[in-house]
Amino acid sequence: MTYLTPTLRERLLALVDAQPVPSFRKAGGAARTTATDRPTSTTLLNIRPAHREDFPELLLIFRKVLAAGDACVLSADTPVAEAYDYWFGAGVDSWVAEMNGRVVGMCRLTANQKGRGSHVAGGSIMVDPNTRRKAVGLALGRHLLLEARKDGFLAMQLNMVVSSNRASLALAEKLGFSIVGTLPRAFAHPWLGPVDAYVMHRFL
Ligand SMILES: CC(C)(COP(=O)(O)OP(=O)(O)OC[C@H]1O[C@@H](n2cnc3c(N)ncnc32)[C@H](O)[C@@H]1OP(=O)(O)O)[C@@H](O)C(=O)NCCC(=O)NCCS
Repeated sequence: MTYLTPTLRERLLALVDAQPVPSFRKAGGAARTTATDRPTSTTLLNIRPAHREDFPELLLIFRKVLAAGDACVLSADTPVAEAYDYWFGAGVDSWVAEMNGRVVGMCRLTANQKGRGSHVAGGSIMVDPNTRRKAVGLALGRHLLLEARKDGFLAMQLNMVVSSNRASLALAEKLGFSIVGTLPRAFAHPWLGPVDAYVMHRFL
């Protein structure tokens, strides 16, 4: 695990402060908490709303996942401001999973489309590569489904599940999603070349 130095943490948070304040999708969405709300967790796994102070830890995990290049369309050099928007931008609700007080994964919930497509949710999950296969992804996935239902979404759609990403595919199936379409050679895999991607769906 790479730890953040105090200086790096301060610099990242200063960058975050320079971002416009996001407006959130719904007042009833993920409750935004402040640093004082942070649980001093003694529980093994805790899922709670993500807040600004978590961004440096989120960014580390996000960068590791993007650097691997085999799961997500975003490129490894996605700028910090875009990374912040991805997790905290308008219309995004996000949560972190903490294990013994340390952030080990996160998920985000959005509407998949605007307007007449906005009753279908979209979501994504990322888990620290050092903490995989400990049921963190499953817990985040179940949490996403609960939150999406609470928000009134009727279904959830995953727009691009890379066909070679066995972990993601198996997790989605375990969460009740099924493949409703195949996008031929839609994902530029770093060592396999163009591979198919699946659109996966489930009603809530
Ligand atoms: C996909 C991902 C979120 C899974 O997180 P995780 O915490 O390791 O997953 P879990 O331990 O909760 O596993 C839950 C189930 O998913 C499946 N799974 C997870 N990793 C797997 C792997 N490497 N190979 C096959 N199946 C896997 C299994 O069915 C597993 O259940 P089991 O452990 O009882 O067999 C994680 O690998 C990740 O962050 N990948 C990169 C980003 C990504 O692909 N996100 C999903 C698309 S947005």
